[in-house]
Amino acid sequence: MPIYLPETTQTSTASLTPREIVAELDKFVIGQAAAKRAVAIALRNRLRRQKLPPEIAEEIAPKNILMIGPTGVGKTEIARRLARLAQSPFVKVEASKFTEVGYVGRDVESMVRDLVELGVDMVREERLKEVRGKAAQNAEERLLDLLLPPTSPIAPDEDPAAARDKHHQTRERFREQLRAGRLDTRVVELDVRERSFPSLEIIAGSSVEEVDINLKDMLPGLFQGRTKPRRMKIPEALEHLVQEEEQKLIDMDSVARTAVHRVEQAGIIFIDEIDKISGREGTHGPEVSREGVQRDILPIVEGTTVNTKYGMVRTDHVLFIAAGAFHVSKPSDLIPELQGRFPIRVELDALGRDEFVRILTEPKAALVKQYTALMNTEGIQLTFTDEAVYRIADFATLVNERTENIGARRLHTVMEKLLDEISFEGSDLPEKCIVIDDGYVSRMLADIVKDEDLSRYIL
Ligand SMILES: Nc1ncnc2c1ncn2[C@@H]1O[C@H](COP(=O)(O)OP(=O)(O)OP(=O)(O)O)[C@@H](O)[C@H]1O
Ligand SMILES: [Mg+2]
Repeated sequence: MPIYLPETTQTSTASLTPREIVAELDKFVIGQAAAKRAVAIALRNRLRRQKLPPEIAEEIAPKNILMIGPTGVGKTEIARRLARLAQSPFVKVEASKFTEVGYVGRDVESMVRDLVELGVDMVREERLKEVRGKAAQNAEERLLDLLLPPTSPIAPDEDPAAARDKHHQTRERFREQLRAGRLDTRVVELDVRERSFPSLEIIAGSSVEEVDINLKDMLPGLFQGRTKPRRMKIPEALEHLVQEEEQKLIDMDSVARTAVHRVEQAGIIFIDEIDKISGREGTHGPEVSREGVQRDILPIVEGTTVNTKYGMVRTDHVLFIAAGAFHVSKPSDLIPELQGRFPIRVELDALGRDEFVRILTEPKAALVKQYTALMNTEGIQLTFTDEAVYRIADFATLVNERTENIGARRLHTVMEKLLDEISFEGSDLPEKCIVIDDGYVSRMLADIVKDEDLSRYIL
């Protein structure tokens, strides 16, 4: 029997104030205060909206955000962290992919389908957590039934009550042994549902779902899945039974409904590289026209209904965050209707030496911490002196100025080069405590940085 669980969309982090959201983002992204502030407000406003009476709530459109800033300064990073924080369904799409050959206008709807797919995964995960205990219990009972069939024949001269008692005792003994892992080598036979889905992947594009739906309607028998007896060891059987029980305990219809609701109310779609579809000049070759892509995206951002496997999804209240470097084109080159749908503009600053120093050391997963942890797995204690960090930041800034400014991404290439030798030698190094000081940094990098051509290729 399915258990009906309350339809919760409220999460613990959902009550964060804008200031707290910014504080959380600060743990991962350095600087970019304006952008953090804007996303924090947008997130909070959705919460505020959900508390309003439906008549007003309906009218309040999300304040979509356009993030403008050079490459590698944290646009994508902010959006990614925000989504984790909000525990909202979140997808990231590259707008430029819709200009590729072979895409047709409707394909832009795939971003909404992906979002729902994610929402369903999220909700199912949550439900799974709730039923896991019950499923494990049921699975154990079923396994015990297999090991010791409940209808063992009763001898004619035996008292049925005593027989039941005995049976019960044996069962409990089996349970003990099972839990202690003493039956792990025994083999049982289980009816396993065959997974013989015809491969639909060959049909390209987003129309797969429709094919899927149609096929299921036309050939119900095909997808029911026949069962087939299979022999397996106890632990595998248990795992299998747990999964089956979980499926039974989760009401997928309710999961789908909750997921669609959550996507409509709390979903975030991040459209990256939006500058790549701006500009109205003619197209080159077989590429889809950029303005065409903008026109295709427009209804989704404005609010439309998209047909998905899990039902119709309205996009009116999905939050859209678009980002782009806008080197060549400007936001005003986007078609006016689309510009209007991104009322909040935030600019992200280019990063300099001081930010680099902080990015290297401060965030939760800062690069210096990452490399230290990596080497630590092989028993090597890596320490960076402050001077070394400054020197790395210096070099990264210098290369960004001299060649191309790729923002904080430069730190990745510089660090990789810097630690190239140590990474290669790894556990073979005789010295287990390695201090990276500015001398080491200079030794490893100065020549490359000095030579512009060399740094163009290597860093
Ligand atoms: N302000 C920042 N604080 C911490 N890390 C940063 C910051 N900016 C960039 N990074 C790091 O640099 C890398 C690239 O950043 P990100 O993907 O956010 O760039 P982007 O602004 O989206 O660039 P693009 O325009 O090329 O998409 C990531 O690994 C990210 O962690
Ligand atoms: Mg990006």
